[in-house]
Amino acid sequence: MTDGRITTAKLGDNGPEVGVQGLGCMGMSFAYGPSDADASRATLERALELGVTFYDTADAYGAGENERFLSPFFKAHRDEVVIATKFALSIPPEDPTRRVIRNDPPYIREAVEASLKRLDVDVIDLYYMHRRDVNVPIEESVGTMADLVREGKVKHLGLSEVTAEELRAAHAVHPIAAVQSEWSLFSRDIEPKVVPAARDLGVALVPYSPLGRGFLTGSFTNADQDLTPDDFRRQQPRFTGENATTNAALLELIRSVARAHDASPGQIALAWVQQQASVHRLPVIPIPGTRKPSRLEENTAATRIVLTEEQLDLLNGIAAQVAGARYADMTFTSAGRE
Ligand SMILES: NC(=O)c1ccc[n+]([C@@H]2O[C@H](COP(=O)([O-])OP(=O)(O)OC[C@H]3O[C@@H](n4cnc5c(N)ncnc54)[C@H](OP(=O)(O)O)[C@@H]3O)[C@@H](O)[C@H]2O)c1
Repeated sequence: MTDGRITTAKLGDNGPEVGVQGLGCMGMSFAYGPSDADASRATLERALELGVTFYDTADAYGAGENERFLSPFFKAHRDEVVIATKFALSIPPEDPTRRVIRNDPPYIREAVEASLKRLDVDVIDLYYMHRRDVNVPIEESVGTMADLVREGKVKHLGLSEVTAEELRAAHAVHPIAAVQSEWSLFSRDIEPKVVPAARDLGVALVPYSPLGRGFLTGSFTNADQDLTPDDFRRQQPRFTGENATTNAALLELIRSVARAHDASPGQIALAWVQQQASVHRLPVIPIPGTRKPSRLEENTAATRIVLTEEQLDLLNGIAAQVAGARYADMTFTSAGRE
């Protein structure tokens, strides 16, 4: 790395080379309270300067708003960025506040056209199935996704929150470049099955919420007290009530490792997840989300931290002590089906 630029990694056996840390763009339009559009735009530009080339969005983030917001940035830098977006969380016309999981071919076709239009690009670099609709055979959904590749609308395919079995079935239909699932010091449930399957198949892992949705940075310790009423994190069991108190105490151990590296706890959380690439021998490209250039600099600098075996062992013990599930309803996650 020179001039603070991050190194690169390959997004799966057949995928593009990308900066070893991506940028999660969801919070710029959705879920985490009010955003400052100018600061978000400055964050995107700073990311690119530092070698971040892999940008994560979804049609569901703000009902298309996030894709629209990112479009001018992507268009200005089309050859430098790898755009990842997702389908599957449909909005029923009778109730725009709800989300219904859909993986059926007509829906996928409708969704890809809408994303291409909002992004205003000719092709999506990585197209993920955001959630599994267990009523549709995965072969059928991935078959349609593969058709989109053949038609030139999409370059590579990804899956989010799938089980190892679902990943294998999908990969038999068309190569999958990446699996995006929650993976952090607090959330390690993909390690026994999904991670080994991804390694066997040459699929990259894209950890989402690698900062535990911000909790691992210490920027909030109790969602009810610290976050705005519309913040999604107030619905997540581990960030409220007694669970939040138990979990905040776990940060002390992360802080002790951080002091040894003259780093922040968030940087240690990112270094830990990044280092899972060598632990599990597969490409790992986390996508921490931020809307602030200074935090982006802090997060990318974490790619330079190397934790010792002893520090990894210490940190590895944290997840088993976390109180509360990562979602109120775990049936929509790989852990809920495995
Ligand atoms: N596939 C899925 O189902 C799924 C689910 C969730 C998320 N995602 C994707 O993954 C991305 C990342 O996950 P995430 O945003 O949920 O969680 P995250 O990356 O673990 O944490 C993001 C939170 O941490 C804060 N933050 C970031 N850097 C910080 C720093 N250096 N110091 C203090 N606070 C910091 C951010 O605040 P600011 O923004 O104010 O800086 C934001 O509130 C999302 O943007 C989205 O693209 C995918």
